[in-house]
Amino acid sequence: MLLPIVVYGHPVLRKIAEDIPADFPDLDKFLKDMFQTMDEADGVGLAAPQVGKSIRVFVVDGNAFAEADPECAGFRKAFINAHIIERSGEEISRNEGCLSIPGIHEDMKRKDKIRIAYRDENGKEHEEEYEGIKAWIIQHEYDHLEGILFTDHLSTLKKRLLRNKLNNISLGKFKATYRVILPK
Ligand code: NI
Repeated sequence: MLLPIVVYGHPVLRKIAEDIPADFPDLDKFLKDMFQTMDEADGVGLAAPQVGKSIRVFVVDGNAFAEADPECAGFRKAFINAHIIERSGEEISRNEGCLSIPGIHEDMKRKDKIRIAYRDENGKEHEEEYEGIKAWIIQHEYDHLEGILFTDHLSTLKKRLLRNKLNNISLGKFKATYRVILPK
C-alpha cells in the first residue's frame, strides 16, 4: 500500500521519534509499505516520520548510486530503533534533496563515516560501520528521526533565500509525483 508523504511544515517532521517495542503490531506490513512508497517516489530513503509515524524506523535503497559507488549495489534495508553512536572522517559535500521538501536540492556537508546501532526486521540487534554514500543516505534518514531536515544544515543566508520556496511547499504550491499530506 502506498503511503502519502508528509511535507515541510508538518509538525511530525519536527518530533524526536521513539523506539518501538519488539512486538510492534504489523511491522512487516509497515516496512513493506515504506519500501513500496520509497520506490514509487524514486527515493533513496524514507523515514517513518515522513509518513506521519514518529517512530525510529527508516528504509534505504542505494542501488541508484551503484555506478558511482559499487558498495551501494544491493544496499536496500530497514533500520529499526536506529541510534548513531559515532560520526567520523572527512566532511563531504553532496547535493541533497528530500521527498518531504519537493523541488529543493542543495549542496551540504556530512561526515563520511558513521557507526550505528539498530535492529533488523527479524528483531536482530546490529552495530555496524558505514562510509561514503551509504553513510550519507543513513545520516539524512536518521536526521528525520531527530526532527531535523536537510535544509536546517544550510547557512543562514541560504535559508533566507529558500524561505519563500519552503513556505510555498507548506501551502501545497509545488509539484510532486506522489501523494502528499500538507501541514494543515
Ligand atoms: Ni528526507
